[in-house]
Amino acid sequence: MIQAADINKVATRLANTKFLLVLTGAGISHESGIPTFRGNDGLWQNYRAEELATPWAFERDPVTVWQWYDWRRGIIGKAKPNPGHHAIKELEDIFENFLLITQNVDGLHGRTGNAKMVEIHGNLWRVRCVREGKTSMLMEVPLPSIPPRCECGEILRPDVVWFGESLPTQALEQAFRALEMCDTLMVVGTSGVVYPVASFPETVKNNGGFVIEINTEATPISNIADVSLFGKSGDILPEVVRALRTQ
Ligand code: OAD
Repeated sequence: MIQAADINKVATRLANTKFLLVLTGAGISHESGIPTFRGNDGLWQNYRAEELATPWAFERDPVTVWQWYDWRRGIIGKAKPNPGHHAIKELEDIFENFLLITQNVDGLHGRTGNAKMVEIHGNLWRVRCVREGKTSMLMEVPLPSIPPRCECGEILRPDVVWFGESLPTQALEQAFRALEMCDTLMVVGTSGVVYPVASFPETVKNNGGFVIEINTEATPISNIADVSLFGKSGDILPEVVRALRTQ
């Protein structure tokens, strides 16, 4: 049961916010039917995501890693953005100063039209040559085999960030600038355990900002959030936008 008083508190804060930063994780796409990373439905052939999303797994067995991404793309390709994604697009339209940082690689935020967005962990519809670093969209690549190959003959990998890899510099710089500038951070559907993103709420708090969390359950972020709204983001976010519009 969502607390109306908390929704109103959030709406009042948003009405007085100059720069809104939204940070999303796998939870926002769960209601679109996409498994989260650490939820039980994230298992594939008894592998956990953490076992496959690594450079070592890809080096050892690129075929299995590609098959896992093909499985995820099969689910994501059929999925549609849900009311939570649409509400975040509405927030982008409402706020002149706005940025969305998503850890999701599913591309669903882009499909709702979010443009002020950083996909900080990459996008699984994009591929990258392991030798040249050149990126292209997967659909532009001829796929006679798994793993697919670049024109140069080298293997192509998904253009996503794996465990143990650094985040793309440009995305990180954009995120750090927004962390400095924002006065409110809204964190949606992330377990808050993967760094450096997990440290973003604390950075905003240390800068004197306000942190709103939306999640189905408590996370380490709940300890520092000014307000935690517990429930499905697809239910809560539209309510927040409605309450903001009537402020
Ligand atoms: P997780 O699977 O760790 O966490 C998903 C979070 O969403 C959990 O806290 C759930 O409680 C919450 N959740 C589930 N359904 C929800 C719903 N309907 N509404 C709101 N919240 C819901 O996924 P992330 O936090 O995104 O990184 O994981 C972070 C990163 O770790 C990923 O980007 C990926 C992963 O390994 C890389 O691959 C580098």
